[in-house]
Formats: sequence, C-alpha cells, structure tokens
Amino acid sequence: MKKRIAILTGGGDCPGLNAVIRAIVRRSILFHDYEVLGILEGWKGMLEAISVPLDLEKVSGILQRGGTILKTSRTNPFKQQGGLEKVKENFAALDLHALIAAGGEDTLGVASRLHQEGLNLIGVPKTIDNDLYGTDYTFGFDTAVNTAMEAIDRVHSTAESHNRVMVVEVMGRHTGWIAVEAGIAGGADLILIPEKPIDVDNACELIKKRHARGRDFSIVVVAEGAKFSEKHQEEGKLILQDRALDEFGHVHLGGIGNVLAKAIEKRTGYETRVVILGHVQRGGSPTAFDRILGTRFGIKAVDLVHAGDFGKMVSLQGNKIVAVPLSEATARIKTVDEELYGIAEAFFG
Ligand code: F6P
Repeated sequence: MKKRIAILTGGGDCPGLNAVIRAIVRRSILFHDYEVLGILEGWKGMLEAISVPLDLEKVSGILQRGGTILKTSRTNPFKQQGGLEKVKENFAALDLHALIAAGGEDTLGVASRLHQEGLNLIGVPKTIDNDLYGTDYTFGFDTAVNTAMEAIDRVHSTAESHNRVMVVEVMGRHTGWIAVEAGIAGGADLILIPEKPIDVDNACELIKKRHARGRDFSIVVVAEGAKFSEKHQEEGKLILQDRALDEFGHVHLGGIGNVLAKAIEKRTGYETRVVILGHVQRGGSPTAFDRILGTRFGIKAVDLVHAGDFGKMVSLQGNKIVAVPLSEATARIKTVDEELYGIAEAFFG
C-alpha cells in the first residue's frame, strides 16, 4: 500500500507557491512512490476535509504561475470550537502519513502545534515579508522586492520631471525587509521601516539637504508597519485600514504613506505624492530566484518526510537547504538586519 502525503498552502499567497507544489508532487511520485493530496484553502481544508488528488498532470505548466493552485485562507483551526479534534479526525480519515504546510509564521505556528499533538508535519517558509525566523530567505520575497524596485524606478522619472517628493509605501507587516531591499535596489533617498520609529523632523532635514545640493526631487520608501517616533506619535501612529483582527490576531495595515506625505509637505514645502503598492507586490510570475528556492524547498520537504524527520521547517542558510525545528522558526519574527540598514543609510539625503 502506497503512503499518502498531503500539501496545503496557508496565509497570504505569494509567487513561488506553485513551484513548491510542483516539486513536492514530482519528488513524491517519482522518487518515493507516494500518493499526493492537495488540501484546499489552507487550514480551512483540513477542518472540512476538502482535498484533490495531485498527479504529474495537475502540476504540469504551473511553475511560472503566481498564486497557488490549492487556494489559501487565513483560517486558524485553534480558533474554531473543536478545531484541533476536527483536524486530527480528518488527518486520520484522509489516511495521511504526513502533511506539508507552506506558509508564514501563522500557518507554520499551527503546523508546529499540530506536530506537538502527534501529527507528522513539515513546514515550508513562504511570505513576501521575509520575516520568518530560522531561514535567510522565504520564497516570494524576491519577486515582491523586484516588483517594488520596478515601481520605484518608474516613479523616479515623474518625481524628477515635477520636482516632487514621491513616497512609495510597500508591504512587509511589522518588518522592513521589502522596504530596505527594494529601496537599496531602487536607489531610494530615504527608507523608513517599523524597526526604526520615524523621526519626521530628521527625515525632512535629510530631504532638504538633498534638495539644497541641487537635487530637486526625492524618493522615500516607507514600510506599511512603520510609525512615527514618540515625539510625533499624534501625527503618525501605526496606521490601520480597519480595527478588526484576523484569526491570528493581526491588524490590517496600510496608509502610513499618506500621513508621511502630508508631514513632509508641511515641513519642507515640497510638493509630495504617494504610491501605495499593496497587493501588486503579491501578484505575478515568480522570479527565477523564487522558482528555484521554492523548488529546492519542495524537494527537501519530501525528503524529510521520507527520512521521518518531522516537526521541521526547510530553510535556506547561506546557500544550503537545511531543516530547523518548527518550534524555533515560529517562536519570533526576523527583523531587518542592522548591517543591511546601515548600507541603505549611506544613501540617505
Ligand atoms: O504577509 C503578507 C502580507 O502581504 C503583508 O505584507 C500584509 O500586511 C498582509 O499580508 C496583507 O494581508 P491581506 O492579504 O489579508 O490583505
């Protein structure tokens, strides 16, 4: 009797998920002779036992497609009455040997708890935010950075033509990875991130200094989770799109760019405009880096199943794919590296 394994994708989608699914299916069928099921819509699919069989045909031609063929949700089984029991029941009813979950801190946090409950779980780190602890990079991040960089390149010419300050707001939740990497790559004149509360007076001095040097325009990249420092709290606290929390307790961020633009215009007198990139960063075809990383993660995840090495997350460390305990990877988030921010700062003003 063949062993049966399943895959699910949870949380916000990102480019590269289909590369992971394709690699898992091919490795499972061709190397280990497993049967593979796709669980639909993340943990919601495990609560409701909604699955589809996956074969080589189903994963053919999906490598370059963004999103996830398995769909996703932000469902948290631990927030549902009897959710844990339901997941355990369906794990048994679907006759699963193991489940591979691709997701960020929330999805993998659930995977970690389910492993502690005795289920065979493996995690694959996915998020455009790159904020998962225990891996140098998550897949999806590189594509988001490239999309944001291209947007920054494009606003440069219009900023220059109009002598304007352009504020570009990027995603990243409570970390500034996208802002820092896209900002460095796009030649931003100022990058503001959640890890460093914004001293808006200082920020404006840097912009004025640049303009005094004869550069009549500036590009400011701000991460959605950034907020003003204490002395300017009233002007720019953490900006939320709404107050409702999702099932993992997260607020819906977005809009700090507008507040920042007003503050800059008021202090400098320079005309300022805002671009909020939003979900554009999550869409589209994955970069080569994300396709390759997703593929390497998928292969390693199946090999861990084969080795019976459960409760692990596949991870990129240096240039090697390794396995780290899910419990460690989900214990905290990975914030922006000081040294990297220092490199960005060398180009401010
Ligand atoms: O975690 C990925 C992410 O895109 C964050 O950068 C952002 O804050 C959040 O998801 C947006 O979530 P939603 O898709 O639910 O609006």
